[in-house]
Amino acid sequence: MGMPIRWRLCTKVWTWPLITRGIAAEPVNFITGIKSAVFLSCLYPLIRLGWLAATDNLGANPIEFITRSTGTWTLVFLLLTLSVTPLRKLSGYHWLIRLRRMLGLFAFFHVCLHFVTYIWLDQFFEFMEMMRDVIKRPFITVGFISFVLLIPLALTSTSGMVRRLGGRRWQQLHRLVYLAAIGGVIHYLWLVKADQREPLIYGSVLTVLLGYRIVVTWGDKWSVLITRKSKSARSTSVGASREKMN
Ligand code: HEM
Repeated sequence: MGMPIRWRLCTKVWTWPLITRGIAAEPVNFITGIKSAVFLSCLYPLIRLGWLAATDNLGANPIEFITRSTGTWTLVFLLLTLSVTPLRKLSGYHWLIRLRRMLGLFAFFHVCLHFVTYIWLDQFFEFMEMMRDVIKRPFITVGFISFVLLIPLALTSTSGMVRRLGGRRWQQLHRLVYLAAIGGVIHYLWLVKADQREPLIYGSVLTVLLGYRIVVTWGDKWSVLITRKSKSARSTSVGASREKMN
């Protein structure tokens, strides 16, 4: 059985990133420098929270402040993670792919903080109460599902797991990030009672990113179909002209 074309493309991009033309073209120092700068920038939300806590500036309701801050940053990091592939494809800066795992792990780190704030500072480890809340309040249910969806992605984010699962299966599993992000936006939309502008902005960004993905995927499938058709048309006409010659 022939290997699907998509699989070969994925292998090239995901499993052997170093030999992919655009990435190999960048010097190692450049990539390390960019990664370090992005890593330090990603620490900003945490440093800010720490600073505000240390200076007693978390407002009248510090638990709500921390929950909201960590929730917002989870969504921001999820959207940043999802922007990497479109940006890489549109700009031709293939090294951008090197930042995706880090951004995804920062999203997971923030959702863990968000969840811990909820179970610790909000629910005081009352697990039965928490389960009741997860079932009773739809926005918590959706947030919880999104969180659960992100766990296998974080656990399989290492290069070893990419190899073990195989490029295609790994990629299929990691499509869950879209569902997690959709859940995150719904979670935000459902918890906001009055002004829904902010969750709608996040929702619009996510729609653009998803739309881009759908267009590219269908474009790829379409071009594969056209190539196959033109190949088979060519081989039929070559066969016919050979028959004529005989
Ligand atoms: C991918 C998963 C999640 C994302 C993206 C997310 C995102 C958010 C966002 C953006 C906010 C609002 C921030 C604001 O008001 O500025 C929020 C609030 C909140 N989230 Fe999440 N969240 C997620 C998972 C969870 C989970 C697992 C729980 C608990 C089980 C949870 C509980 C809450 C609570 C209690 C609030 C505050 C509601 C309020 O202030 O009334 N979230 N979250």
